[in-house]
Amino acid sequence: MLCPHGLPGEGAPAPTSTGAPPARLLPEPPEVGVGNPFAPPGPSAARTPSAPSSRAEPVSPRPESRSAPPSLLAPGTERDPYPLYRTLRERHPLVYDEPFGAWLVSRYADVRAALADPRLVAPSPGRTLADLEDGTHSVHRALVSPAFRGAALAALTAGVERTAYVLARRLAARQEADLVAEFCHWLPTAAAVAALGLPYEDTARVHAWCRTGLDHLGGHHPELDAFLRPYIARRRAQPGADLLSALCTARADGHPLPDEAVSGLAGTLLGAGGEATAHALASFLANLLDHPGQLGMIRARPALTAGAWAESLRRDPPLHVVSRRAVEPVGVIPEGATVACLLGAAGRDPARFADPDRYDAFRADPGELAYGSGRHFCPGALLARLTAEHGLHALLTALPDLRWAPGFRPAPEGLISRSPRTLLVRPR
Ligand code: HEM
Repeated sequence: MLCPHGLPGEGAPAPTSTGAPPARLLPEPPEVGVGNPFAPPGPSAARTPSAPSSRAEPVSPRPESRSAPPSLLAPGTERDPYPLYRTLRERHPLVYDEPFGAWLVSRYADVRAALADPRLVAPSPGRTLADLEDGTHSVHRALVSPAFRGAALAALTAGVERTAYVLARRLAARQEADLVAEFCHWLPTAAAVAALGLPYEDTARVHAWCRTGLDHLGGHHPELDAFLRPYIARRRAQPGADLLSALCTARADGHPLPDEAVSGLAGTLLGAGGEATAHALASFLANLLDHPGQLGMIRARPALTAGAWAESLRRDPPLHVVSRRAVEPVGVIPEGATVACLLGAAGRDPARFADPDRYDAFRADPGELAYGSGRHFCPGALLARLTAEHGLHALLTALPDLRWAPGFRPAPEGLISRSPRTLLVRPR
């Protein structure tokens, strides 16, 4: 599955003829650390060394810094990117990855700043919210936002809750099951189908479209558009209590949303369901099943679930890379270049999190960088959390003895979207 916000830009200029920028191109001399090139433009921002990304230790000019920097495309990275992330954070916090075709940003503070930096924009113009910038982005975001709060959010959440119990109960009689294929992938899509008021029998078809044509940020699937058209027409004529009716009767600047916008928004709900939430749920369940003591405490005190979910997103975010394009030079990053913000590396930055590789469901401040930062911050964050909470609660209620199948170990995969692709469990 492709990066939600585009893979490194085709046609983006390489920074030097050899690809790797000379070390001196880094914004500041090593003795003061690698300054934050994403500080908002100001009178002194371009010249003054800024704080070194909240690290205690300055980055020193080690000999390795002058050798070819490692690449995201190096063999083995997809299986285990964490050694590479460590090297990047420690020795190459801002570096051009020639094979990948993008500047890599890996430290927590830098990733956060880069995502919010107005000089770094969505990599390729398009029709989905994440592809838009400036005024159009704010207008479309304002259209989408009501779907994530109030009555619409309540409808989505009710769909999630019902679906979670149906799926969990189906597993209860089984000797062995795969939670990814039979729970994580279905829950977000089936919940969105239920909330939109679409027929339950069509869930499988919609699910298949989500997995082939839509990504985290929606996109367009002609078959889904054609499927939705008659429902949109019917809801316009006779609105009901479902989310699709709410979208059909919504007004922006006094006008109803056009059919294209309604079906695009429905696609966003379904596509997001099919991607990020499913991957995140898989990692969340893997983390909890790997830590039965912590799981037991959450079972006893469900109010702890939100923190456990946030911690899983920190340690194992479903989206490891979010891309941007520089509309003007940013420090050493040339205009037009692609910047890959490494959420997976940022979440394990020891300068921000103590013992960052450890899963600690009770960590005081796991942050929320997995949802992005700044103007594109994920509007579905609350829905995703509610999905995780209801999903876990349904599983723990229907399957009180849930545990790994004998000998099974989860193996996360993927460079851009990352999670275990199977979770074999004993439901009883
Ligand atoms: C655990 C689950 C999720 C994660 C980790 C996640 C992550 C993200 C991230 C990192 C971004 C920002 C991308 C950027 O900066 O360019 C984003 C944006 C977005 N997400 Fe999510 N997301 C999740 C669930 C959802 C859900 C459930 C929905 C909707 C049903 C959703 C809809 C969107 C939309 C529409 C945007 C674009 C916002 C904009 O560009 O203004 N996401 N998400």
